[in-house]
Order: sequence, then structure tokens, then C-alpha cells
Amino acid sequence: MADDPTRQLEERARAARAEFDAAVSAATDAAALQALRDRFVGRKAGLVTALMKDLGQLPAEARKAAGASLNALKQAIEGALEERQAALAAGEREARLQAERVDVTLPGRPIPQGGRHPLTTVREDLEDIFVAMGYEVYDGPEVEDDYHCFEALNMPADHPARDMQDTFYLEGPGGLLLRTHTSATQIRYMVENERPPEVRIICPGKVYRRDDDITHSPMFQQIEGLVVGKGITLGDLKGTIEVFLHRLFGPQYPVRFRHSYFPYTEPSVEADLGCINCGGSGCRICKQTGWLEILGSGMVNPAVFEAVNRRLGRNAYDPEQVTGFAFGLGIDRVAMLRYGIDHIRLLYQSDLRFLEQFPR
Ligand code: DAH
Repeated sequence: MADDPTRQLEERARAARAEFDAAVSAATDAAALQALRDRFVGRKAGLVTALMKDLGQLPAEARKAAGASLNALKQAIEGALEERQAALAAGEREARLQAERVDVTLPGRPIPQGGRHPLTTVREDLEDIFVAMGYEVYDGPEVEDDYHCFEALNMPADHPARDMQDTFYLEGPGGLLLRTHTSATQIRYMVENERPPEVRIICPGKVYRRDDDITHSPMFQQIEGLVVGKGITLGDLKGTIEVFLHRLFGPQYPVRFRHSYFPYTEPSVEADLGCINCGGSGCRICKQTGWLEILGSGMVNPAVFEAVNRRLGRNAYDPEQVTGFAFGLGIDRVAMLRYGIDHIRLLYQSDLRFLEQFPR
């Protein structure tokens, strides 16, 4: 009985099955599964394959049943390998999902946001106030010439008022310079626009002077205003400036006008605002006067209209027909007053620790 080939084959099949069952649950990766596939059902050296080859040694009447049972074994092994492979893949996927797990309830990391520079905020506030009063915003160049910056503003070459504005001149032909004030843009507008004699503009922009201390920077910013029309009076100037300053700083501060001198206005006045720091009792900010000097202004000097007319070659701004007023103020100064900034350079250092303190 012991050497009955049918029993021997059954015995070898049972042993192969037992070995496979033990090995398959121990296989933990694709390579181990492939090794099992080779060992048991491989075409060349598979144990079950060898058993099938040995079927020929069985008596004919035993072959069919033995063949069927070997086929079943082969299928069981292949099925188990596939199942195991699927289980391993599922395990891997689960592990990957665990590893890649994200907590969707975590708050997001904020993206740093830029903000407006305080000078931009102030400039836009100034523009808004005037635009609401019907003014047009008009830009002029920072590189100017003597005519627009001085000559047409009634400051001929030897005029002592030029000394008030220490100028950066550019080398080379053309007598170019960096504008010392936005007043140059008044002239540009009148010379370059064909819709006079009604004018209502503001001109914000950078200006340059050889000046450097805690309240002066070689580059700073101004806003200029010019109104021209029939019957414009000093009363219009005063009303406009008062409304403007009250909208900018608040209606609680008194506004006063002092006579002054600018070559391009006659009469000239400066506007002061009751000190927003001490309320008028006197402090360091207002130099103990109770008043803050805010802007220069005046009625446009007919000499300015005449200079423009000469340039245009026609009497476009006839001083007998039209009058006007103009004003100019420093944007930096307004920003320093509004935010309590004590050194102008802070506005130009791009230091985020400083800039982040301002409303955006
Ligand atoms: N240009 C003057 C300055 O730079 C400011 C100024 C004064 C402008 C009187 C004007 C004006 O338009 O009428 O300080």
C-alpha cells in the first residue's frame, strides 16, 4: 500500500497544500507572493505542476479523479494567491491613507497680505475729498523745466523766492530739474489743455528739494489745487479750504487764514488748523502756538495767466475775464499729523514693523 503511486501522489499533494497554507499567510509583499507562485504553480519548477506531470504514472482508472483533485488544488492555490495579493494591496492603501491623512478641521495658514502705504492712504483720502467736490486728478512729470517750475509762476531767474526752494538741477541740455513743488503742474495743465478757461484740478505727486531733517526729506509729496473761472473769489478759496480741512481732520477744529507771500498768488494766504494734538492749548507739535500750518494758497496772480497766454500765443486766460485760486500742501505732513509720526524718514524706509501699524 505504501508504494501505491496514487496514494503517494495524494500524499505529496496534501503536503504541498499544507506548506502553501502556512506560507501564504506569512507572505507580506508582492515579491514573496511571486516566490510562492513560482514554487507551487510555476510552469517549470512548481510543485503542483510536477504532480500533474506525474499523473501519467498512475493507473488509468485513478488518473481522472487524481487529475481533477490536482486541478482543484491548483485553482485553490491561485485563488488564495490572488486573495492575498488583494489583501496586501488593500493594507498598503489603508497605510498610505493613514500616512497622508489631513486634518481638514485645522485652521488655514494665513497668506501675508500687503497693504496701502500710509502716504497712499492719505493721498487717496485727499483725492476723494476733492473728487467729491468736482475736481479732476491731473498728473504732471517729476522732471520739469525752469519755465513750468519757476518762470511761468512769476519767479524769473533772479527772483529771490527761488531761494526758498533749493533745487536739484539735472546735467545736460534742456535746463531740466526735479520739480520743487507741484505748482509746476498748474502751468502744464493750463498750457496743455484746450478746455479753458474753466479749471478745477488737483495734482498730487512727488517733489524734490535739497532738504533733510526730521520733518524734511529730499523727496516728499504734495498735492496742488487750481480753480479758474469767471467770478472766483477769495471767499471761494476760504470756503473750499475750510470744507476740505474739516472733511480731512474733522469739523471740530477751527481753521484760520493768515496773509502770506507767494509770487504766483496775490493775495496769498496760509491756512492753519487748530492743533489736533493739544486742541489749541499749545504743545510740542504746534510749537506752543495752538495752530498747525497746513497749506499755502492764494488768488492766482494775473502774471501767471499772462505767462500762460504768452506761451499759448492767445488770450486764453484773460485776467480781465477770469480769476482763480490755488493751493498746495504736503501729503507727508498730513500723514505725520494724522498718525503722530515724528520723523519723516520713517515714511520712506519700507520697514514693515513701522508700516504694519497702519490701517490698510
Ligand atoms: N508751492 C508752494 C510750496 O511748495 C505751496 C503753494 C502755495 C501752492 C501757494 C500754491 C499756492 O498753489 O497758491 O510750498
